[in-house]
Amino acid sequence: MSLQIAKALENENVVFTKNDLLEILSFTGDEQLKELFKVSTQVKHKYVGNSVYLRGLVELSNICQKDCLYCGIRKSHTQNRYEMSDEEVIKAAEFAFDRQLASMVIQSGERQDEKFISRIERLLKQVRYITGPDFGITLSCGEQSYKTYKKWFDAGANRYLLRIESTNQRLFKMIHPDDGKHSYETRMECLHFLKDIGYQTGTGVMIGLPTQTLEDLADDLLFFRDFDIHMVGMGPFLEHPGVPLYHFKDQVPSKHRRYELSLIMIAALRILMKDINIASTTALETIKLGARDQGLMIGANVMMPNLTPHRYRESYLLYSDKSCLRQELDQNFQNILIKAKELGMEVCLGRSGDSLHFSRS
Ligand code: 5AD
Repeated sequence: MSLQIAKALENENVVFTKNDLLEILSFTGDEQLKELFKVSTQVKHKYVGNSVYLRGLVELSNICQKDCLYCGIRKSHTQNRYEMSDEEVIKAAEFAFDRQLASMVIQSGERQDEKFISRIERLLKQVRYITGPDFGITLSCGEQSYKTYKKWFDAGANRYLLRIESTNQRLFKMIHPDDGKHSYETRMECLHFLKDIGYQTGTGVMIGLPTQTLEDLADDLLFFRDFDIHMVGMGPFLEHPGVPLYHFKDQVPSKHRRYELSLIMIAALRILMKDINIASTTALETIKLGARDQGLMIGANVMMPNLTPHRYRESYLLYSDKSCLRQELDQNFQNILIKAKELGMEVCLGRSGDSLHFSRS
């Protein structure tokens, strides 16, 4: 570690340059990572507390109009398609509300038809009615028009997740088909819409994509800062044998390096944006058992227990070997509480956990 970085890590008010970030991203091995994680852990404790917020995740449907080359629920992937019923969604919301998770995420394959738009609107109104104003409702339903985002906001959603996937436009093009439906500009425009409307806005990237460089990841981090994002969820790229990007599997970093890089990205982001919400993702847990807890220890402060009914879970495989497919809801919830206690972390029940960065802006 250069003296400059060592000093920068010690100084809370330092403004990191791209070169600083590049140096941090090139850290590897226990010793260097220990130094970095020591700082990111301190920053986490000081700015967002030694805590974790829970968001109950509902994977509403795997029906998707898009054909992203990395994703297991892409339109062209032959598989069983499902939609959860309204009753199932409401039941999941009640579970989250009753157990004081205090927030939920409704995620779905992307659709822009009227039927889908009004269904989401109706569900939002119902969930908001049951849960009251202090419950966090996040949507993750892809790219939509300004009008749709506004309609959903007015119906009760207050947070939205839309990953940019990679800020390198060449890479963005490489991982999406050239079919007129996938464009970097549209994705960016949607993120602006969301912020303008007043959503707590979340984005994120995949880490270890084929041909992705450390410079790309440094640019991703700088994008989060310059866009002044409120929440970030990012995790390792996981190759799925049923989708086109699988053919590039020899051009991705080793599993161990993707795991390491994912933790480094979380730590660097916490140091860069001290009071945002950062999720420790299922993809991270999938690449290495226990890695999600590590993510929480070194900087992340959000996790998303899965509330999707079990019979649908095998059909919502964005990537293969997805972790936590079989745990029972209540058991899973209890395990999280036990685990957090073991790690000395507070689980923030009964508080919806708005992004402090959002509340201050
Ligand atoms: N590996 C890792 N993450 C993936 N996602 C989709 N497919 C994969 C994959 N193969 C992530 C994308 C998307 C989010 C819902 O899941 O980043 O935005």
